[in-house]
Amino acid sequence: MMNNPVMPIPCEILKITHESDLEWNFRVKTDVKPAPGQFMQLSIPMVGEAPISVCGAGDGYLEFLIRSVGKVTNVIFEKKPGDTLFLRGPYGKGWPVEELKDKHVVVITGGTGLAPVRMMLDKLYEEPDYCKSVHLISGFKNEEGIVFHDDLAKWEAGSFETIYALDRDEKEGWRTGLVTTFVKEIPWKEFDGNYAVVVVGPPPMMKFTGLELVKNGVEEEKIWMSFERKMSCAVGKCGHCRIDEVYVCLDGPVFNYTKAKYLVD
Ligand SMILES: Cc1cc2nc3c(=O)[nH]c(=O)nc-3n(C[C@H](O)[C@H](O)[C@H](O)COP(=O)(O)OP(=O)(O)OC[C@H]3O[C@@H](n4cnc5c(N)ncnc54)[C@H](O)[C@@H]3O)c2cc1C
Ligand code: FES
Repeated sequence: MMNNPVMPIPCEILKITHESDLEWNFRVKTDVKPAPGQFMQLSIPMVGEAPISVCGAGDGYLEFLIRSVGKVTNVIFEKKPGDTLFLRGPYGKGWPVEELKDKHVVVITGGTGLAPVRMMLDKLYEEPDYCKSVHLISGFKNEEGIVFHDDLAKWEAGSFETIYALDRDEKEGWRTGLVTTFVKEIPWKEFDGNYAVVVVGPPPMMKFTGLELVKNGVEEEKIWMSFERKMSCAVGKCGHCRIDEVYVCLDGPVFNYTKAKYLVD
């Protein structure tokens, strides 16, 4: 029998990790194998659905970093390991992982924007020969907002060049300032044009990071961004996610900056 791509499947919650007060990581049992940067529709019957990025994958499970903000996510936060979540997907175009091969890769994240790139960063960490270098700039509003502490420590101790920053606060080993402040510290000239940049975070962060990258001579077609938009069907039918001719659920959520610059608010 063919799988119905829009039919939600009941899946067991295996583990819930409180990454911060507001963001919890839900490990859910499933054999679905999304590509890095894709998203799934998570639902609660009689309540509704929410698109959530896949932030991790392992043998027989996926992980989702969820912020409780509304009707679906609030109910998800009442769930316990052993309870059921309904999943459909994966959907959307993920990160252009093939494009990153043998390049210098720069990843810039704001807050929970780290979630949609975590799977890709893990691949680059586990396959250090895949690209020439990885520079990671991750910024958070404050110490309470930091997520994926263990991954940040692992990547810093490994082969990544890292800059971790808090917007205004001080923390040992961390920098203070917005991520845009540190764009000029990336050794762009040494890359000799052979690089790709990935940016993900709240809309103002993506807008100003895009502008700062261009100011530093970064070529627009080498920048990639991921977007969140209100969605319903996630399969290009309802038009909820449409911006002009673009369907974020189908054409995105990852876009090249040449297109993304017209989508950022
Ligand atoms: C591709 C993609 C990936 C995403 N990845 C993630 C992820 O990894 N993690 C994550 O946590 N989120 C993610 N999101 C965002 C998530 O889908 C939304 O936050 C979603 O709306 C949550 O659903 P909800 O029903 O819980 O919230 P909703 O009830 O839809 O509320 C969402 C927002 O709208 C506001 N709101 C709700 N009702 C009203 C009202 N009547 N008037 C005014 N404002 C209102 C709420 O305060 C809240 O800020 C992603 C979105 C997309 C499109
Ligand atoms: S969410 Fe329905 S068209 Fe994109």
